[in-house]
Amino acid sequence: MPTTPAPAEGTDETRPTRSRSAVRSLLRLWPYVKPVRGRLGVAAVVAVAASCTGLVIPLVLKWIVDGPVADRSTGGVWLGALYLLLLGVAEAVLFGLRRWLVARPLAGVEAAMRADLYRHLQRLPIAFHDRWASGQLLSRGTTDLMLLRMFLAFPLTFLLVNSVTILVGVLIMLAQDWTLGLVLLAPALPVMVVCWLFEKRYSRVARQAQDQVGDLTTLVEESVLGIRIIKGFGRHRSQALAFRDLSRTLRGTELAKARLLAGIYAAITTLPELAVGAALVLGTVQVADGSLSAGTLVAFLSTALALRWPVESIGFLLAMSQEAATATERYFEVMDAAPESDTAPVSGAVSASGAASASVVAPTSGAGRARDGGHGGLRFDGVRFRYPDAESDSVPVLDGIDLHIRPGETMALVGGTGSGKTTLTALVPRLHEVTAGRITLDGVDITAIPREELRALVAVAFEEPTLFSAGVGENVLMGAPDTAGEADLARALAVAQADFVHALPHGTDTQVGEQGLSLSGGQRQRLALARAVVGTPRFLVLDDPLSALDVHTEALVEAALRRVLAGTTALVVAHRPSTVLLADRVALLSGGRITAVGTHHELLRTSAEYAWLMSGRTETSERENR
Ligand SMILES: Nc1ncnc2c1ncn2[C@@H]1O[C@H](COP(=O)(O)OP(=O)(O)OP(=O)(O)O)[C@@H](O)[C@H]1O
Ligand SMILES: [Mg+2]
Repeated sequence: MPTTPAPAEGTDETRPTRSRSAVRSLLRLWPYVKPVRGRLGVAAVVAVAASCTGLVIPLVLKWIVDGPVADRSTGGVWLGALYLLLLGVAEAVLFGLRRWLVARPLAGVEAAMRADLYRHLQRLPIAFHDRWASGQLLSRGTTDLMLLRMFLAFPLTFLLVNSVTILVGVLIMLAQDWTLGLVLLAPALPVMVVCWLFEKRYSRVARQAQDQVGDLTTLVEESVLGIRIIKGFGRHRSQALAFRDLSRTLRGTELAKARLLAGIYAAITTLPELAVGAALVLGTVQVADGSLSAGTLVAFLSTALALRWPVESIGFLLAMSQEAATATERYFEVMDAAPESDTAPVSGAVSASGAASASVVAPTSGAGRARDGGHGGLRFDGVRFRYPDAESDSVPVLDGIDLHIRPGETMALVGGTGSGKTTLTALVPRLHEVTAGRITLDGVDITAIPREELRALVAVAFEEPTLFSAGVGENVLMGAPDTAGEADLARALAVAQADFVHALPHGTDTQVGEQGLSLSGGQRQRLALARAVVGTPRFLVLDDPLSALDVHTEALVEAALRRVLAGTTALVVAHRPSTVLLADRVALLSGGRITAVGTHHELLRTSAEYAWLMSGRTETSERENR
């Protein structure tokens, strides 16, 4: 997790420029909406019924004005009032019913989408996570999904309901008096043009705003995770400035949204209002002429007024739909990224033995093969690797790695900083895919082994000893969740010299804070090491696992490792001579290649680079060995 105080800007990938129609984007929600389509459909019908009930009210008014009022019948007026009351109650009950119908299924849709997103994020390759800022992913799982639920609850239904209401209302008005109806219809075309223009502009700022929310989330997340660095370097002021800049930008974008909304709202209310005014004048003249009944004019105008809300709401319904379309796009940008697949994605990575059945790597048969063919152990053949987002003409990080670690052997990997040691270790459990060449475990190409099986076979501990918010024991047992028990846990803790665990308030049940920050660096490292060895793995890949330990503890760990992992084939990245001495042999990584292999002392004699890398401590370690 980067702890730089600078905000991580969204990458190009999170900022697509191509515009897609909102409807097309929203249609992608169908698989999630499909299971609840029945309820949504019923809810829409109920809402249409409720809305049309409202349109009957003007007709009752007309009947009251032209009937009982004209006839001066008090009883008739009371009856009319009762009808109006009943209609009002029916409308309210129907709208309430609609809300009840949609609430539960839509919460389900949101939860299902969130679960899918989370599952997908777990299955996406490391290369994806390298590229994407975490806040962008976080905002997709929270804000965007909330926008989608709101869209399904409201605009989706009400765009339909209001369209039907407007249509029915216009038909009623045309039936009352078609000349007045046409006057009211006059603004329809300009309103449509305004809506269309609005849609286009609003979609752009909506996207901007949602991306900026992602940037802001990233910044907040990094500040929380990196709080020690920020405080340690007194960076809180600059961090606050960065935050203020980002939130100002977001505020600007939100204001742009508000301006657009204000514009469409003004157009959508003014134009129809003018038409209503014109119709009122024209209608009054007609009533005065006697060519129109007063009741008809009342009904006509109250219908027009009843349509006010459906027309005015179009502005923000469109805005919400546009935001939902953007949220859908952002959601599917992640969902469309290809997860890790079990087939080799790169040509040249699978070789003849790649086709071999993965079952060859069963614990017993693998060892058998190793003895027969000399292909056993961990073998790198012409492995080349370039990070997926690197320029295609750049120099690969690893370029032609040939290395054979014999079964049961421990090989130390030494190289200058940035030489690609971490990268090489990440290739073994397939956190990254080789660009060319192949890696075999007991003769079987790793691309032929199902990932799950491969990762059960190869245990890893990385430079950053990440722990999860869980018990200490749980963190360690994560290394072999299905197979390891209490005895394995105790053994692993002993190997990693993590006896401090027993002194913790609740022993192995003690909860560690987020990222294990409540423990010391060396304690975390030892737990990470225990996690790697808890399942007594056949293959062990350790990326500088002892760097935070004092030399004495390191020596104890080494001795225990040698004893317990005698049958394990291990690749151990090392910086210090004391760690190197743990290994049977040492390989020197330089310029993307393995330039020398041999014992520590052989390399000290034959490789100037190795001697230089180990210098400073050479004398001590030589003395130790004498
Ligand atoms: N995710 C990545 N995307 C692109 N380049 C990367 C990525 N990770 C590492 N690199 C580059 O690959 C090179 C090798 O990095 P790597 O982490 O493997 O070095 P290392 O040998 O482990 O160094 P150290 O001893 O400091 O841990 C470096 O130049 C680094 O900038
Ligand atoms: Mg490294």
